[in-house]
Amino acid sequence: MNVLEEILPSKLFEILDRHGICTPKQIILLSFWDIKKLTSLPNGDIMLLKNIVSEYLMPMCNTCDKLLEQEDVYKRVTTGCKPIDNILKGGFRRGVITELYGESGSGKTQIGIQAAAFNWCEGIVYLCTEDLFPVKRFDQIKTYLPNYDSTVDYGKHVFVEHVTEPQDLLSCIRVRLPSLLSRNKICLIVIDSVAAPFRVEYNNYIQRAEELRELAILLTNFAQTHNLAILCINQVTAAFQEALDVMPALGLAWSNMICNRLWLKKTTINAKLDQEICRSDNNACLRTLSVEFSSELPYCVAQFVITQRGVHEV
Ligand SMILES: Nc1ncnc2c1ncn2[C@@H]1O[C@H](COP(=O)(O)OP(=O)(O)OP(=O)(O)O)[C@@H](O)[C@H]1O
Ligand SMILES: [Mg+2]
Repeated sequence: MNVLEEILPSKLFEILDRHGICTPKQIILLSFWDIKKLTSLPNGDIMLLKNIVSEYLMPMCNTCDKLLEQEDVYKRVTTGCKPIDNILKGGFRRGVITELYGESGSGKTQIGIQAAAFNWCEGIVYLCTEDLFPVKRFDQIKTYLPNYDSTVDYGKHVFVEHVTEPQDLLSCIRVRLPSLLSRNKICLIVIDSVAAPFRVEYNNYIQRAEELRELAILLTNFAQTHNLAILCINQVTAAFQEALDVMPALGLAWSNMICNRLWLKKTTINAKLDQEICRSDNNACLRTLSVEFSSELPYCVAQFVITQRGVHEV
């Protein structure tokens, strides 16, 4: 059925059809006087049909009500660790970039792998820029998943790539990632780490800022079009302010492109663990994850430990 036939009163449609006007586009492009000359319709009818067609073609506008109805927009991507999920209101937020930074050994990669394991069936892209994907650790963590089934292939929707150069990372994100996203359902993209390729061999800081900006824009676009979460792991650099020892790497150019910044810290406090929770290591050091800045989360801190089971509450 012709679109005009559907949206216009039948008498108007018949007259237009008789004069060869049969698409909404023609009605928009022809002026008021062109339509009058061709069809001899009264002014009121021409105004009416112009309004009906422009309303039909008008782009849909989102409203708060409509957004609230789309529950999956707000469904977070769980980290698989209760205290961390609690402060993140359920996990990593979709549609934006979340940065996780901390010193070496603080547990950044463990959180990335655990999120991959817990959300395996919804599709994960894991881009490694430092070490290879720790597949053995992934295999270990998956055995502690609720309802773990040894016959299930937990890695089949976890797409892994190892890129170390900034240009390789960018071209992977420009070319390969869109094609992967068009063919597969993905809920989380992890870059572990975003700092490694951009920290070395850069004398031209303007070029580095431009490349980081492009990376962040591409990732944010994917996050919004495919409604997925982006986790960018970042390293630390020495801070020259008295109050701080370390600060996130990559400077202001990068900081301005992210929505949430989370700080991971390993303390020297030993957490006594229940023997039932942990079969082998019944004490592990306490770690904290704090929200450093966020457009939607208050400042708060979660405490957790890392054991063979993965990242979990004390
Ligand atoms: N199988 C395991 N059992 C217990 N603890 C583990 C296990 N695997 C890793 N860990 C803990 O996780 C820590 C390493 O965390 P992770 O590799 O995530 O650090 P990172 O922040 O990514 O460091 P880097 O910046 O060097 O990549 C180890 O110090 C160890 O305490
Ligand atoms: Mg790591």
